[in-house]
Amino acid sequence: MFKRSDFPRDFTFGAATAAYQIEGHAFGGAGRTHWDDFAATPGNVPRGESGAIACDHYHRMEEDLDLLKGAGLDAYRFSASWARVLPDGRGAINAQGLDFYDRLVDGLLERDIKPMLTLYHWEMPSALADLGGWRNRDVASWLADYACILMDRLGDRIWKTATINEFWCVSFLSHFLGHHAPGLRDIRATARAMHHVLLAHGTTVQALRAAGIDQIGAVCNFTYPQPASEAAEDVEATATFDDYYNNFFLSGIFRREYPRRIVKALGPHFPDAWQQDLEVIGAPIDWFGVNYYTREIIGHAPGPWPALRSVEGPLPKTQMGWEIHPEGLHHFLRRCHDDFSGDLPLYVTENGMASADTVAGGAVDDAARIDYLRRHIAAARQAMAEGVPLEGYFIWSLMDNFEWAFGFEKRFGLVHVDFDTLERTPKASYHALKAALAG
Ligand code: FCB
Repeated sequence: MFKRSDFPRDFTFGAATAAYQIEGHAFGGAGRTHWDDFAATPGNVPRGESGAIACDHYHRMEEDLDLLKGAGLDAYRFSASWARVLPDGRGAINAQGLDFYDRLVDGLLERDIKPMLTLYHWEMPSALADLGGWRNRDVASWLADYACILMDRLGDRIWKTATINEFWCVSFLSHFLGHHAPGLRDIRATARAMHHVLLAHGTTVQALRAAGIDQIGAVCNFTYPQPASEAAEDVEATATFDDYYNNFFLSGIFRREYPRRIVKALGPHFPDAWQQDLEVIGAPIDWFGVNYYTREIIGHAPGPWPALRSVEGPLPKTQMGWEIHPEGLHHFLRRCHDDFSGDLPLYVTENGMASADTVAGGAVDDAARIDYLRRHIAAARQAMAEGVPLEGYFIWSLMDNFEWAFGFEKRFGLVHVDFDTLERTPKASYHALKAALAG
């Protein structure tokens, strides 16, 4: 796969998960979230699956931390569930929830694994979703208040904190494409969510800093768009995609501005006086996380903005149907460094693939994942050789889990989970990673 000795001594290797995807949201006094509501709506998730039990990590945390340690990983990127800490999103605290994350962090430190915490990985408490969720400007102070409560308990032991996971998914995917909770398809809601997700990020960065927390970052996801042809309208459609998917959030955070194309298209739907928020949105951060999985081929399509469609590409695909394109990871590490983040330390905070893995004779042969990781890690190393200040790489995911709108069918784990018995079985990729990290 690779050798640890090929990387700088202090380079961090980790694996990532998210609360709703693994914990079992039915346990421990957690409040309802908009993902519970989305999953309970017929047609949204295959077989009506949800995160109610998921991997039962809530009860099997020690075993899961042993798996991290067993692979020789240095760090663990996990998220806290807002509604586990504050069942209604504000007000009363669920003491069991804070205790759970306290034990998790201590369990990591006991194993000499660095805790990297994401504050929001997608499960908005339903009580706040009822008030408009990401459409409501108050989401900025709701998130900041929750962040301060959580970090008051954990902040002395957290290695690095990310505000929000994947700004594009929180806003565009969930309010324009309707694929994720709250499942809206509404351009005004989208514009507001895109702006408010950035405002909530900046407000939270400032609030945490005022509370004495440092090492705060942001995590965005990137998809590498390529035009279906050289025709001017396909090229323009690709640029539109690139701006609303990739550049919008980078521009807000690092330049305190929004791309011209997006202001033209979505400006009328943004909240009043949105420009006055750019100062907060661009609050300085300490590191930046890149989540990367695939590329997308884009063609023009008649109709209202954004007037584009996704075209099936020719490359080998993962179980998600996503093309395998490691060059895109190299591209985005370069783009972040060259055009936006400068000398700020970068992390690959998610990268990995889904495959239809099965257990046979106690083993899981996932050779395709080993190859995927090998090629993407090589692309990351290439960027480092060119001067990109990449300081760590996190695999999505430690274990198979609730893959949102795809339910339990899509398996991203280094560790296989049998969702009937909840038995964990390390896959061949887990063993290959362990050997690479020892090398
Ligand atoms: C990312 C999400 C993560 C997981 C992977 C496959 O977009 O952050 O929770 O679903 O995709």
